[in-house]
Amino acid sequence: MSAMDLSSAAFPVNTPKFWGDEKELVANCIETGWISSEGPAVKKFEAKLASKCGRRHAIACANGTAALDIAVKALQLGKGDEVILPSFCIISVITQVVRGGSVPVLVDSDSTFNMDVAQIRERLTPRTKAIICVHTYHFPVDMEPVLALVKERGIKVIEDAAEMIGQTCLGRPCGSFGDISTMSFYPNKHITTGEGGMVLCDAPDLAERCQQLRNLCFDPKKRRFVHEELGWNYRMTNLQAALGLGQLSHLEEAVSRKREIGRLYTKLLEGCPGLILPPDKNQKSESNIYWVYGVEVAPSVSCDADAVMKRLAAAKVGTRPFFWPMHEQPVFEPMGFFKGVEWKGGQSFPVAERIARRGFYIPSGLALEDHEVEEVARRIRKVMEEIVSADGGYSK
Ligand SMILES: Cc1ncc(COP(=O)(O)O)c(C=O)c1O
Repeated sequence: MSAMDLSSAAFPVNTPKFWGDEKELVANCIETGWISSEGPAVKKFEAKLASKCGRRHAIACANGTAALDIAVKALQLGKGDEVILPSFCIISVITQVVRGGSVPVLVDSDSTFNMDVAQIRERLTPRTKAIICVHTYHFPVDMEPVLALVKERGIKVIEDAAEMIGQTCLGRPCGSFGDISTMSFYPNKHITTGEGGMVLCDAPDLAERCQQLRNLCFDPKKRRFVHEELGWNYRMTNLQAALGLGQLSHLEEAVSRKREIGRLYTKLLEGCPGLILPPDKNQKSESNIYWVYGVEVAPSVSCDADAVMKRLAAAKVGTRPFFWPMHEQPVFEPMGFFKGVEWKGGQSFPVAERIARRGFYIPSGLALEDHEVEEVARRIRKVMEEIVSADGGYSK
């Protein structure tokens, strides 16, 4: 968008970026006729991403939700097993846990919006079979205590790295921590294939199992179309993988641009009344990746995030609310997972409840240019000044 037409411009919450070389790679699929999941780009994309994450195997699939479904099923999480996960996450994380008959056991969030790993130990029982770690918005989960715990107890880890492609934790790439790790390539992710996902692991038997689950549980040892088990058609097309290959070769640039956008927002919004901005580093000095630029409406402001987002929509600034906690999801209410359960430390999720109501994120797409970030920040500051002054002024 040119600098001239910005005053009337609308800013969507996401604008994906294409680097140029994707076009030829996708055109090549059409020219050669390789468009389905059988095409060569799928294997290339898998190999390239596996190597980026230091994993032995990568299994491309239809989306990040599908990747999580495959992970849960491949680790044989089933009836009666307990799976610890954050309440504050996207519903994709819990879907197959519940469908497969396992019991979701929730932990609250910490100040980084990630799961509060200190609560995990309190939730352990002899039935605990896995922990799902979901790196959320800005920083990786504090993996060190999680890894120590699972080693001690022999439980499995699923790492959802959908939002942290290109992020590091303990000096290692996100996507390298889980018995199975997963990713999404939705257009708001650091690399996109339109829709798409990846399962990453090291164990060859797990990789084979994930490949089967992705492809209807066809069994290579059996006559075609004879099945011992039910799987899904969660395959990725060659067209998507070709796009992914083009995107993946620019991952470092994408991550560094995200950080530039994030830091520019912070510079421009510093001191903005009524808004709490995300820090650039966490307590372990890991850098915010700014997958999105997530903010909180300060407690002293009378209205919540919904009201602020409405005002920003009127100013043509696109936003998204934060996730809604799993323990407050209507769909789970009749299932009774989160009622009457007395964990040590109580059954309450004050942080998840607060950030769900006070948090939202602002235009964060990779294609945003600096002058657009400046205009968005100007409009946000104006809206917040109006809100806070209608509140009768305010001090943080
Ligand atoms: C952390 C996380 N996990 C899983 C998903 C689901 O991915 P998909 O939309 O590709 O199914 C998302 C989507 O945004 C996500 O943010």
